[in-house]
Amino acid sequence: MANSTSGESVSERIVRVLEAFDVDRTALTTTEIGRRARLPSSTAHRLVGELIQTGLLERTAGGRVQLGLHLWEIAQRGSRALRLRQIALPYMERVQARLGEHTQLGVLERDEVLFLERLSHPQAVSNVTRVAGRLPLHASSSGLVLLAFGDEELQRRTLEAPLASYTPDTVTDPDALRALLARIRREGFVVAEGFVEPVSRGIAVPIRDARDRVIAALSVVVPRADPSAGPLEEVRAAGAAISRRVREGADPFASR
Ligand code: PHB
Repeated sequence: MANSTSGESVSERIVRVLEAFDVDRTALTTTEIGRRARLPSSTAHRLVGELIQTGLLERTAGGRVQLGLHLWEIAQRGSRALRLRQIALPYMERVQARLGEHTQLGVLERDEVLFLERLSHPQAVSNVTRVAGRLPLHASSSGLVLLAFGDEELQRRTLEAPLASYTPDTVTDPDALRALLARIRREGFVVAEGFVEPVSRGIAVPIRDARDRVIAALSVVVPRADPSAGPLEEVRAAGAAISRRVREGADPFASR
């Protein structure tokens, strides 16, 4: 696509406009979009107007701008994320019915865990995970599983970057993190005691494809005060069942 005077392509600018929205800021003014996308005001107004015309953005009743339903429609079509979610959902629902807390499905996306699904209960413990939201690899239980079974390059990049602390229990020391990753590979699961929030425990297991590659993580977030082993058993059984279904059926992450 044609480049602007700054040398940046129109596609890059459109992506920045779309990325200006996040799970906590779903409706923005065009001025806010321009600021968040680092675009001159006239460019932001033009691009936003064009994207509204195509349906990728929509006006809210209050005159702000939000991501369009048509964008969601296109993104869902044949998406590997949707296929994986559909395979996992019945098993996630069973875990959810038995534990009554939170059950999540996450995948690796640009060095973070991106959540495809989250099931919850009104009385469940606090949980910062959002559908289409992200968490850092080193802090969350899902992220730790994806990191432990991820490639060496990913581990090197993560271990070399500053490891942010969310609670006093987040593992921020690279040597301790390396040891934790080795343990996750040995045991096939992680129990993250208060790494993201002091009140909760994240428990995650890998989901594997037919070639035994880890393609996702299944996790539960439960109250830290609950000492029972039930949640770990549930999530392990569900993870194994989902991996089996992935192996039997069409590989949700295979490109055709
Ligand atoms: C976790 O996966 O470890 C986790 C995620 C979100 C929370 C707490 C724990 O709020």
